[in-house]
Amino acid sequence: MDVERLVGSPTSVKVAEVAADTPSIKTLVFEHGETSLTGRPGQFLMVSISGVDEIPMSISHLESDTVGITIQPIGEATEALVSMRAGDWLGVRGPFGTHFSIDAKRSLVVGGGIGMAPLRPLMYSLIERGIETTLLIGAKTKDDLVFYKEFNNIPGVQLLASTDDGSLGFKGLATEATRTIIADSKFDTIYTCGPELMMKGLLDIATTRGMKIQASLERYMKCGCGICGTCAMDPTGILVCIEGPVLNGEQITELSEFGLYHRNSTGTKVNF
Ligand SMILES: Cc1cc2nc3c(=O)[nH]c(=O)nc-3n(C[C@H](O)[C@H](O)[C@H](O)COP(=O)(O)OP(=O)(O)OC[C@H]3O[C@@H](n4cnc5c(N)ncnc54)[C@H](O)[C@@H]3O)c2cc1C
Ligand code: FES
Repeated sequence: MDVERLVGSPTSVKVAEVAADTPSIKTLVFEHGETSLTGRPGQFLMVSISGVDEIPMSISHLESDTVGITIQPIGEATEALVSMRAGDWLGVRGPFGTHFSIDAKRSLVVGGGIGMAPLRPLMYSLIERGIETTLLIGAKTKDDLVFYKEFNNIPGVQLLASTDDGSLGFKGLATEATRTIIADSKFDTIYTCGPELMMKGLLDIATTRGMKIQASLERYMKCGCGICGTCAMDPTGILVCIEGPVLNGEQITELSEFGLYHRNSTGTKVNF
């Protein structure tokens, strides 16, 4: 067995650039030089911060010589990441997991909060392939919309927003906005990442309307590469780190815990 390949060739990378995407969310971009550190939209890296932890992070930037991650601080490791500056060093392994399949004719991309991270490189792949795309970004307020300014005025992309407080775009949940958007449009595929209850709502909409859906799921991960079993989902035991994180509608429909609960670091069920 090629162990190095399985665990994802641990590599040290230097932070080249730090960008503030919202008042709390930041993007770190690092040069990958001649390493094999690339990836495809939807894949993730295991990122280690010396003396703190190693955590999964979606690839949000994919350029020929740089890779980036976009971080929402919620605990010790993510707080450490958003405190980093250009010149600091990180450990990375990967890329891991499945990626989005670009097989849509007319796509609706729905990103909730930090869920926009893996959808950013997907958007550029859809644009590059000339696929007609509507992007709906959802957040609590207009200041929390991730990558909204970046996708404003890009030819071929219709950009929409939904905010809980109505400060920009549709007032309400992204699922409610989606029902309005698809009422008079013919999308064949929904791509999504965000809060699981949002993705559950989108799965129900897609199933009812006979649309395809691909969603990027999040489960607690320790190894990130299929060894520890932490990310297994009921009842099939599918491992999100290697068989996901991007799953299609048929695969997700088999998962009885989707939209109901996830497991924390000790394996205890936590309801959504
Ligand atoms: C495939 C994948 C891709 C991810 N991509 C991104 C990304 O692009 N940007 C980003 O900001 N975050 C992303 N995350 C989530 C990120 O890994 C967690 O927020 C991070 O591990 C939290 O670590 P912490 O030490 O900061 O917080 P902790 O102190 O470990 O946790 C804070 C709280 O969050 C909960 N938590 C931690 N990790 C998870 C998890 N995986 N699922 C559910 N609850 C969890 C803990 O139980 C605790 O309640 C991703 C997760 C996965 C599985
Ligand atoms: S995180 Fe270890 S098997 Fe998925």
